[in-house]
Amino acid sequence: MTRTLITGANKGLGFETARRLVEAGHTVYLGSRDADRGRVAADELGARAVPLDVTDEESVRAAAATIEAEGGLDVLVNNAGIAPEWRADNTVVDARELTPALIGQTFETNVFGVVRMLHAFLPLLGRSAAPVVVNVSSSLGSLSRLSGHPGYLGVAYPASKSALNSLTVQYAKAFPEIRINAVCPGFTGTDLNGNSGTQTVEQGAEVIVRMATIGPDGPTGGYVDVDGPVAW
Ligand SMILES: NC(=O)c1ccc[n+]([C@@H]2O[C@H](COP(=O)([O-])OP(=O)(O)OC[C@H]3O[C@@H](n4cnc5c(N)ncnc54)[C@H](OP(=O)(O)O)[C@@H]3O)[C@@H](O)[C@H]2O)c1
Repeated sequence: MTRTLITGANKGLGFETARRLVEAGHTVYLGSRDADRGRVAADELGARAVPLDVTDEESVRAAAATIEAEGGLDVLVNNAGIAPEWRADNTVVDARELTPALIGQTFETNVFGVVRMLHAFLPLLGRSAAPVVVNVSSSLGSLSRLSGHPGYLGVAYPASKSALNSLTVQYAKAFPEIRINAVCPGFTGTDLNGNSGTQTVEQGAEVIVRMATIGPDGPTGGYVDVDGPVAW
């Protein structure tokens, strides 16, 4: 039985990933920073709700203790993410107004949250026969794709995903026994982008599910989108 934890899974791509992995027979821990919304979402899917705020050390530690006590972890999907410089009306905070506080808030979830999760869960993953980590990144984190993108989509969010890509490469080297990859789901209609994304969550979650289910002989240290491996 594969035991899987997904952060930020009460809605959006995380919720759809949870749905698909429950269907695939995983025991899914559905992480949600709001315990009530997490419980409702988990009940709908037949998953197990786990209160989890990736910016809160105590919350992450408590989730790790719960999951360890219930049998450990095989697959960690670091999905929780924010883009506070994207406003509800789909405008982007002007770069002149970017403050250390705003970029700090973004990194606290998208980057340090992943480090916090890995720090707490690597001991559990280390005891799995087929450990897997999926970091949900973005094409905006790829320097080549970001340079080639015609629009201005902020500073903090792309920088946070570039940092996440770099973390993925180095953690994969540090833990060759764990399959650790980054994925880009593609531009998907969710609350993150005011539901302006052109893909459905079913389409976006496909690559997350694919890389969460690669098994012990799958690739590691890579960056994958809907069409397969892509350059960093
Ligand atoms: N949608 C796209 O086009 C797209 C493209 C590329 C990459 N991504 C990435 O895909 C991932 C999922 O995003 P989404 O599009 O599904 O957005 P979403 O619908 O806004 O979902 C984001 C999830 O992250 C959770 N979250 C935020 N901060 C958290 C924290 N501190 N601790 C735990 N959970 C937290 C949210 O919880 P609340 O409900 O409590 O806010 C929510 O469950 C993100 O990493 C995003 O960067 C999305």
